[in-house]
Amino acid sequence: MTDRVLIVDFGSQVTQLIARRVRESGVYSEIYPFNRVTAGSIAAFAPRALILSGGPASILDDDSPRVPDAVFEAGIPVLGICYGQQAMVSQLGGAVARSDTREFGRAALNIVDDCELFGGAWAAGAEEQVWMSHGDHVESLPPGFRAVATSEGAPYAAIADDERRFYGVQFHPEVVHTPRGAELLRNFTHRAAGCSGDWTMEAFRDRAIADIRVQVGSGRVLCGLSGGVDSSVVAALLHEAVRERLVCVFIDTGMMRAGEPEEVTNLFRDHYNIPLVHRDASAVFLDRLAGVTDPEDKRKIIGETFIDVFEKEAGAAGGAEFLAQGTLYPDVIESVSALGGPSVTIKSHHNVGGLPERMNMALVEPLRELFKDEVRELGRVLGLPERLVGRHPFPGPGLAIRIPGEITAARLDVLRRADAIYLEEIRKAGLYDEIWQAFAVLLPVRTVGVMGDARSYEDVCALRAVTSTDGMTADFFPYDMAFLGRVANRIVNEVRGINRVVYDVTSKPPATIEWE
Ligand code: XMP
Repeated sequence: MTDRVLIVDFGSQVTQLIARRVRESGVYSEIYPFNRVTAGSIAAFAPRALILSGGPASILDDDSPRVPDAVFEAGIPVLGICYGQQAMVSQLGGAVARSDTREFGRAALNIVDDCELFGGAWAAGAEEQVWMSHGDHVESLPPGFRAVATSEGAPYAAIADDERRFYGVQFHPEVVHTPRGAELLRNFTHRAAGCSGDWTMEAFRDRAIADIRVQVGSGRVLCGLSGGVDSSVVAALLHEAVRERLVCVFIDTGMMRAGEPEEVTNLFRDHYNIPLVHRDASAVFLDRLAGVTDPEDKRKIIGETFIDVFEKEAGAAGGAEFLAQGTLYPDVIESVSALGGPSVTIKSHHNVGGLPERMNMALVEPLRELFKDEVRELGRVLGLPERLVGRHPFPGPGLAIRIPGEITAARLDVLRRADAIYLEEIRKAGLYDEIWQAFAVLLPVRTVGVMGDARSYEDVCALRAVTSTDGMTADFFPYDMAFLGRVANRIVNEVRGINRVVYDVTSKPPATIEWE
């Protein structure tokens, strides 16, 4: 078995980044909420080391989360980050105190002594840039610990107990604002914990294929293809695992981008020879969406219609015992909510929820352990074309939520043409991979223009492009004006029905990425 590291989550906003950095160093890692960590769950996961995340609580408050005793009794190295360090110190006999001022942002770390964490990379006497975000600080150390680095706001910015191989840092090594933080995490996993770093995507692929074969046996698997990265990677992986016992169903909702239905069928049916049921259901979707303008109603109708059509097509294709889904790791991590309660629903993001129960199928979810960028990597290892693997995320309801107001075949056609021009120019300018998502929106707003010598009265098209790491927050992409001018010019000249183009310069929050 490959080496594993268990991350104990105390609710930090950046806990996922710890898992990613550890995996990037070739060590498989998973995140458990602190209250699920017991001697039993540690033994079952069998990690080589444990990492305690940061969190929003104060260890000085009575009801704040504690590190389960099993962590310190496991006999393996432990690294506490921020809150994790403070909890470790406080529970092992040291002291934590409130600071007068919070230390937030970039800070200078002074290395005072060598230790396994620094591993020669961070030398005594050197100064390293790190990122801090804390109110409390460690005031005295538990027995066995020594200080190995200090900063202005944190006298014990890094501490070590070499005997037990327990370490603590007040700063966040997992964020990019600690430029050499990844090296520190790597020293922890490789030097202190002795991990070999042999977790690769090729190894993951081989294990996933073996696991799928065990789970599926001689059964048939159904896979809904959407044209997106996740479902494509699932299909390619399942094809390797079960070959002709995989049936792909591709429902064209009529809400897809220009050329995408053709790309999906060409790749999977013609290139991979995967049995593919292709159903152009655009008429059904359009019919059910007639007169609907509310964004959440659109989502609900599209979700339900999808399930109806999928069920029918799957039945016609002979059915199956298993349904494959592209669930990703961020969807399955039980996050520790800082505030406790459920968060408000801004938008209901639909997937094929409810389908497995309705059709009495077991789920196959081979991407459950992966982050999005790892899914892309797996796609490359499986030989999927770069154009597909690097594709921007695309929402399930598709263009329906990029046409505020009523959706008609004519409006879809106008939007598709504007969107295609926009994306063509983005690719031509070499910007596609710098952008998280880019798309056109067709507004239900007509404005006056002048074309030739005549007055025009046509719709406005808005362009959106954002950078993001996970879609949760986003910034608008800073194009140069000449690029925007070129795109606007082409759209107005080439697409009948649009006479004005605007660029959306709002970030998320307060706006969302999509317009509905
Ligand atoms: P928002 O607009 O909420 O989008 O900032 C965040 C990310 O989610 C995608 N998105 C959806 N995906 N069904 C989906 O499958 C939906 O209803 C949906 N709404 C938004 C959006 O494209 C972005 O990547």
